[in-house]
Amino acid sequence: MPEPRNESPAEEPDPDGAALWGGRFSQGLHPAIHAFTGSLHFDRRLVRHDLMASLAHARMLRECDILTDAESEPILVGLSEILRDVEDGSLEVDGPDEDVHSWIERMLIERVGDAGKRLHTARSRNDQTGIALRLYVRERLEDVLSGVAGLQRVLVEQASHHRETYLPGYTHLQRGQPVSLAQHLLAHVSALTQDADRLRSAHASAGVSPLGAGALAGSSFPIDPERTAALLGLDRTFTNSMHAVADRDYVLDAAYACAVLLVHLSRWADEIILWSTREFGFVRLQDSVSQGSSLMPQKKNPEAVEVLRGKSARTIGNITALLTLVKGLPLTYNSDLQEDKEPLFDSFDTAEWSLAAAIAIARATDFQLDAMESALSGGMITATELADHLVRAGVPFRTAHAQVGAAVRAAEQRGVELWDLSLDELKSCCPDVSDDVRDVLLPERAVAAHDSPGGPAPARVLEQLGLVDRTLVALEHWLQNRTDSPIRRAHADEGLLDVEVS
Ligand code: ARG
Repeated sequence: MPEPRNESPAEEPDPDGAALWGGRFSQGLHPAIHAFTGSLHFDRRLVRHDLMASLAHARMLRECDILTDAESEPILVGLSEILRDVEDGSLEVDGPDEDVHSWIERMLIERVGDAGKRLHTARSRNDQTGIALRLYVRERLEDVLSGVAGLQRVLVEQASHHRETYLPGYTHLQRGQPVSLAQHLLAHVSALTQDADRLRSAHASAGVSPLGAGALAGSSFPIDPERTAALLGLDRTFTNSMHAVADRDYVLDAAYACAVLLVHLSRWADEIILWSTREFGFVRLQDSVSQGSSLMPQKKNPEAVEVLRGKSARTIGNITALLTLVKGLPLTYNSDLQEDKEPLFDSFDTAEWSLAAAIAIARATDFQLDAMESALSGGMITATELADHLVRAGVPFRTAHAQVGAAVRAAEQRGVELWDLSLDELKSCCPDVSDDVRDVLLPERAVAAHDSPGGPAPARVLEQLGLVDRTLVALEHWLQNRTDSPIRRAHADEGLLDVEVS
């Protein structure tokens, strides 16, 4: 059986119109249709955001003389009380209403009587649902961003201790060139910085208020959409009322940003899974993030990390669903758009849970420095250094490449590393090497020599650490200010609300 949905309404039509639109109907909604089209069981997550937006709308109506003081006062008080009760948990968002917007209107009318029936003046559920969802998206993006910053902090901290821990860097999953563990960890941090940028950009795209677009054609009342936007802490309002109610780019942007984030986490997770194998042995996972096998007593499985790798699938599914949802949809609002919420909510939930797990996993990852060091042998990992050394002595790179290839073959035949070959052996393949060549071949020397911008040399890694720190401090500062925003301070005695609640 499917999950329980909305409560069924009475079968007979309410003469006063139980639904917001009841007037022209002579039959009640079929219970199967009510359950099928109802969205309260998921859009109740928007209750605080809708209440804030409704408060802003009511204040604007008063300021623009569309409602009188006597008309607007009970609405503002009623909405503030509902908000207070929802926040302190004494009022549950539940009932036969088709969506959260209908629920709020019913609650308001129940509390303040007929006065509540004026709230919907110069507004439609089409612009109402848009503003509530945008405010919600911004709040959730802020939470995801703070998870990203938290994970970055852990990785940066680890990197700062491992500027001189060396291991192979891989291409094609074959040992390529030596790098520092710090450089390696900061590669993941860089991917997360791009995620933060994408999440910030989705946050900006959600920051346009559609309130005042009405159903699709604005309003015949002298409304002030800029005022409602400003009251809600948004600095922009729509330029076209039809686009305002049809636009779901901010939903796509947010879902895409979450999908890419989860893809990044899956790549990081996959690496931990690989590194924790006996074959690699570069990390050991602490017991707090490992699980056992029900059959094989010796097993310690990185199951949480596997779940993390797997979580990307649903966020990729969600962005695919959302793109499919809006593709080919005619202007302006269509009820298909109600289907935007569940995939989006799931992406936010998945991103937040995954980041919390990733932070726990990262903290419980013990690097095995001996295994990393051993892996530097056995792969001729500094062959490129030898070629560069020859180039410095004037040998064209392609010639040097061929000569080093011969030296690699010679070392392989003897079963030793390049740095174990004698000078004479090296010279027989590479006549232009100088006497100090064997220093050049040591992994830590190779890493130190790779001092180009963004490279793994300790000094360059130090630069990266400084840069990442500045970026993170800026993000943390921004997040701090966001948590002070009017939406977060959704209390009746603050800024936006300015209403006495009894
Ligand atoms: N529940 C709808 C949604 O989530 C809002 C109502 C839109 N307007 C309408 N006429 N059905 O998008």
